[in-house]
Amino acid sequence: MKTGIIAVTVAVSVGMMSVAAFAAETGEAIFKAKCASCHPDGGNIIKGKKAIKGIKDPSIVTKKIRAGGGGMPTFDAKAISDADAKSLADYVVKTFKK
Ligand code: HEC
Repeated sequence: MKTGIIAVTVAVSVGMMSVAAFAAETGEAIFKAKCASCHPDGGNIIKGKKAIKGIKDPSIVTKKIRAGGGGMPTFDAKAISDADAKSLADYVVKTFKK
């Protein structure tokens, strides 16, 4: 009986860990595929002053993805889902600190 409970606990925690790892990987993969061409290393090759380095609030990133403008393309929910946009924004904020 006891081993059964332990097995379930281990399975659940391993499952949660892989979800977290997957989220981080997704953000990085999306950034490399869709953003890095214009924002290499968190910079901005089109408008240098609009670098994405140093952004602290992930919602700034998710809003800009949806709004686009000023030379930046718009990414709707078909291009990047809400969940993917969130992990992408978290990746940007964590990776490109000043
Ligand atoms: C075709 C080039 C291009 C691509 C691809 C691109 N961007 Fe941009 N991005 C820009 C430009 C140009 C601006 C400046 C827009 C402006 O002046 O409002 C910008 C601005 C931004 C800003 C606001 C920065 C600030 O200081 O106000 C964020 C955040 C951002 N981009 C994130 C992203 C993310 C995340 C992706 C990938 C999904 C992405 N961009 C893809 C060109 C691009």
